[in-house]
Amino acid sequence: MKLAEWAHELAESLLADRFPDRWAHSQRVYSQALVLAPALGEDAELLAAAAIAHDVGYAREAMDTGQHMIDGAQYLRDVMGAEPRLCSIVAFHTSSPWEAAELGLSEKLDEFGPAEQELVDAITYCDLTSSPIGRLVDPTQRLIEVLDRYGPEHVVFRAVSAARPELLNRVERVQQRQAMALQQRFN
Ligand SMILES: [Fe+2]
Repeated sequence: MKLAEWAHELAESLLADRFPDRWAHSQRVYSQALVLAPALGEDAELLAAAAIAHDVGYAREAMDTGQHMIDGAQYLRDVMGAEPRLCSIVAFHTSSPWEAAELGLSEKLDEFGPAEQELVDAITYCDLTSSPIGRLVDPTQRLIEVLDRYGPEHVVFRAVSAARPELLNRVERVQQRQAMALQQRFN
């Protein structure tokens, strides 16, 4: 079975029934990953697999540290035997390093390093262009929505506030890479 297909079945079994909104979100993140295929070349399949599985750390089966990016990566590595690069993308997606720092989990996160910048940029782009219920959304609006949802006392609020400039830089880098890839394709 191909990697993305395998990850799709796994994520569906962990999220679809118990977390329908998160599953709808994950499916949108997956379809955004497919859109980025021209910019990713050989890593397109890997990104698609990471995209559909990026939030499996919210599933009860995966919960451990309480940081869903680490819990998801750990579950994929230790229970499912997934390949290190897939686990790494899940571990480092979006605001993970900032959240890990807030929670004293940076060392644990580093088990999944080093992060591959292009792939982390790409998964972050996919995550931030997908709303919590799976609609396409502007990344700036998405970050405002996250901050509103958690409120200033929450660790996610502090992490996302600190991460925001770099997260938006990632989105911009991905848009540039995608534009270049599409230009090359049609030249
Ligand atoms: Fe997500």
